[in-house]
Amino acid sequence: MRLATQCIHVAQPAEPVTGAVVPPIFQTSTFEQESPGVHRGFDYSRTNNPTRKRLESVLASLEGVDHAAVFASGLAAENAVLQAYLRPGDCILIPPDVYGGTFRLLNRVFAPIGCLVETIDFADQAALARASAKSPRIIWLETPTNPRLLIYDVAAVSRIAHAHGALLVVDNTFATPVFQRPFSLGADIVVHSVTKYLAGHSDLIQGAVLAREGAVFEPIKFLQNACGAVPAPFDCWLTLRGIKTLELRVRRHAENALAIAETLARHPSVARVYYPGLAQHPGHAVAARQMTGFGGIVSLELRGEVAQVREFASTRKYFALAESLGGVKSLICHPASMTHASIPRDERLRIGLPDTLVRLSPGLEDAEDLLEDLLTGLDTIEEQRTRERETTSCR
Ligand SMILES: Cc1ncc(COP(=O)(O)O)c(C=O)c1O
Repeated sequence: MRLATQCIHVAQPAEPVTGAVVPPIFQTSTFEQESPGVHRGFDYSRTNNPTRKRLESVLASLEGVDHAAVFASGLAAENAVLQAYLRPGDCILIPPDVYGGTFRLLNRVFAPIGCLVETIDFADQAALARASAKSPRIIWLETPTNPRLLIYDVAAVSRIAHAHGALLVVDNTFATPVFQRPFSLGADIVVHSVTKYLAGHSDLIQGAVLAREGAVFEPIKFLQNACGAVPAPFDCWLTLRGIKTLELRVRRHAENALAIAETLARHPSVARVYYPGLAQHPGHAVAARQMTGFGGIVSLELRGEVAQVREFASTRKYFALAESLGGVKSLICHPASMTHASIPRDERLRIGLPDTLVRLSPGLEDAEDLLEDLLTGLDTIEEQRTRERETTSCR
């Protein structure tokens, strides 16, 4: 079964009693038992729930593995992986511009209990090999990264990770299984912020962990129940609904992103466009090899003053100024004051996240409308810059 068909058919047969084509929501906390301890596979919804189980089956099938566990958020999913595999004294390697919340989780929760969090430029294979020689427990990869869309070679990092006995975890949120299959490139564990493209409508928070090996998955499944950060059945049902159109949606998101990246790269107020689908993007060749599409996010470094950049982000007609990404409605974000504000400014600048960077998550609107909206804002910045230049030259 191919991916677009999996999205609609896996674990979603018609309901047997009434024939309802869409499986119902099992909005229940508990299940009646025939006799003490004898039940039909479900006893309590924190432990297992039929709607959640359907969603886990679909996600596992999309990533091409047998094991998935969904959580109440992407960070709860990440936390389960880290709690399962990182002990005081263990080392984890991360790339510099990993998602801000992941950075905070590692540095504010796991580092204080004695875990060693080391930031390495994964594009520098020699540096990665040197750091790996210290036997890290986990190598954590996000590709494309948030927000600069850097691309890392998953297969190359997986060879280094496995040569040193580390687990390779890949955050596949940005690419989605439509464009990237990390397990086929050597990942041991894949995590998702389901909140984004998988659910796809900016109406819920959810996360997922997937694993190929039962033995790798077991501690995560245990923590899902033991710690209890599970999503509600209704949210699982909404995600099942969202996933039915996943393939169509992410292709359209990517078409809109490419149109925006190509057009804005020529605008004088845009210093730099980050989009792996552009030939000039440093990760373009690797992305073309390991992905089947370049994703839906575009980041822009603007030439104006920070105040102008903030004004640009605040006044778009179709791009709501909001955290998050991957929904049908376009969003714009100023990472320095929003998603990545938890990273100290010096550190942010060091890893290449200037205050003039904006991240766009083009939705499914008409590309022409989105472009008009962005160009209106950029032209305003350009006019202000021209006036400033004229005033300076008259002095
Ligand atoms: C790449 C990436 N991973 C993980 C997360 C965390 O997911 P959540 O917000 O669902 O907890 C995010 C959130 O923005 C993200 O962008």
